[in-house]
Amino acid sequence: MSTVAAPTAALPIHPDAPSEAFAAVRALFERARFDEPTVARRMNGPNLYGFPRLAEGRRTLAGPVEDANAALIRLFVDCEALEARTVEATCGRAGMEQMAALGLLTEVGDGKLQASVLLTPLEGLWLVSDVPPVRRRLKEGSEPREFVFPPANQLTRQFLDMFTPTPGQRMIELCAGSGIAALRALRGGAAEAWATDLAGRSVQFARFNARLNGLDSMVAVESDAWAAVEGETFDFVCAHPPYVPTLAHEFDYRDGGEDGEQVTRGVIQGLPTHLRPGGRCAITCALSDRRGEPTPQRIRSWLGDAADEFEIVVMRRRDWDVLHAYRNVAGEGAATYRDAERWLRHFDALGIERFALCSFELRRERHTRVPVAEMHAAGTQLDAATIDWRFRWAHHALSQPDALARLAGQTPRVVPGTRLSVQLRADADRDWVTQGSTVDVDWPVGEAVRLPPLGPTLMELCNGTRDVYALLEALRGAGLVEEDVQPLDLARLIELLCTAGALEIPVCPLPPRPREALAGDNTAEWKRAVVGPQDAAAGAGPATDGAASAGASA
Ligand SMILES: C[S@@+](CC[C@H](N)C(=O)[O-])C[C@H]1O[C@@H](n2cnc3c(N)ncnc32)[C@H](O)[C@@H]1O
Repeated sequence: MSTVAAPTAALPIHPDAPSEAFAAVRALFERARFDEPTVARRMNGPNLYGFPRLAEGRRTLAGPVEDANAALIRLFVDCEALEARTVEATCGRAGMEQMAALGLLTEVGDGKLQASVLLTPLEGLWLVSDVPPVRRRLKEGSEPREFVFPPANQLTRQFLDMFTPTPGQRMIELCAGSGIAALRALRGGAAEAWATDLAGRSVQFARFNARLNGLDSMVAVESDAWAAVEGETFDFVCAHPPYVPTLAHEFDYRDGGEDGEQVTRGVIQGLPTHLRPGGRCAITCALSDRRGEPTPQRIRSWLGDAADEFEIVVMRRRDWDVLHAYRNVAGEGAATYRDAERWLRHFDALGIERFALCSFELRRERHTRVPVAEMHAAGTQLDAATIDWRFRWAHHALSQPDALARLAGQTPRVVPGTRLSVQLRADADRDWVTQGSTVDVDWPVGEAVRLPPLGPTLMELCNGTRDVYALLEALRGAGLVEEDVQPLDLARLIELLCTAGALEIPVCPLPPRPREALAGDNTAEWKRAVVGPQDAAAGAGPATDGAASAGASA
């Protein structure tokens, strides 16, 4: 693979600055309430994932800068230049100098200061990254190859939604960029957290972030996948690797080799060496569908001789075709027919049929004779508890040889949110006859199950009080099943509905539905927010804004 020459940018920030400088800036941010809930509220948005900058059409907080919180938002979130005297008046002279001492601010002429990085409060952390261009993708040669990936985007959020920090663990975030998952883990009580990245620039940014948050114990290492982590083992591994298929490497954060899976493969191939028994690995990235090779089995094959020690569940969030994959890398106007044809031939030679954005988990543990290896369509919401339920249900499904034995003593009940539609047909006497019904769910998976005419009554009877035998008796009593229908037949149907998440049983209950905020995509909410009343929050400020700005300038 070739590498496109890209500018190398000097490091704007100073990760080796004295601890006192980091502590002073931290104190300024705290006094100014430069935190995610306050900033999101002032911008009139749901949170800071996917937030639009002023230059991208946001209209809130566009008025005069009157307090430290607004100044920090304009400088670091919007990346706008501000008069130095405004920064001094709101953040205090010392605050302004301390931010400059860390390399966060630079003079841009006309008495103005501008941020050298994007700095976003997220997940209880402050995180610096490179500043993305406004409203467009990075173009070849326009940014350094090592461009540091901004964490305040929907993909990072979907990645983080798939695991929660576990106190006492030794964890590693590979492909860490800003180091957001490693730092969140340390905040959550991890015994040790490592952040590694191929790009030296990302490693420096992650080190800076660790120090800015007072989490200096984070270990930051420059490493191509596991190359520089020899001899280390972990309880938890996570990665949000680059996954865009490219023939020429342009951006480290984006390009995943000729099939998009090169980095992901490297991460998974290292698990037998680096993941401790009982450990888990959570990855969010695109995977390809290959002719004749189910994705979970293909991933397990990367584990080599240790494959049988691992279980895997893949949740598919959305998918796209090969032409779309080509458009992702071809710049506007560059998509010539000949070029596209070359790409389609390339994908075809690799057996690639489609791509899918997936969140998946590998567990180094085995509960059943055949290790779990499954893939499901994700529903509208997906989180760590949802994928955990998929593992538990898979174990349950493999626990006994037949459905009736597995449902012995179980009393199924309908899961809230399940939708049921009934298909009716007018007969010769113009009476309505039930033809069948469809149950569909949008969580824990996105699925529709076609049922025979007994469907509506069965769903109504499943209220947590009847086992399979009692359900069959009630259906018989209602004249909805023939004499030859056996308990095992009904048990199979009930398990089908449990697998889809329309019914649940006491031995394997569903977790609570994820918070609406975990839907993963805020775009619509942000759209509503940016068309709200002009500058709705500016001036009003956060609830205790007066104290915030007074404190900040003190
Ligand atoms: C999509 S970004 C994810 C950053 C961060 N984890 C997040 O979710 O916001 C992918 C990161 O992988 C890094 N990367 C690319 N190839 C890599 C490799 N072979 N080994 C380790 N890191 C790599 C890039 O430099 C980039 O920082």
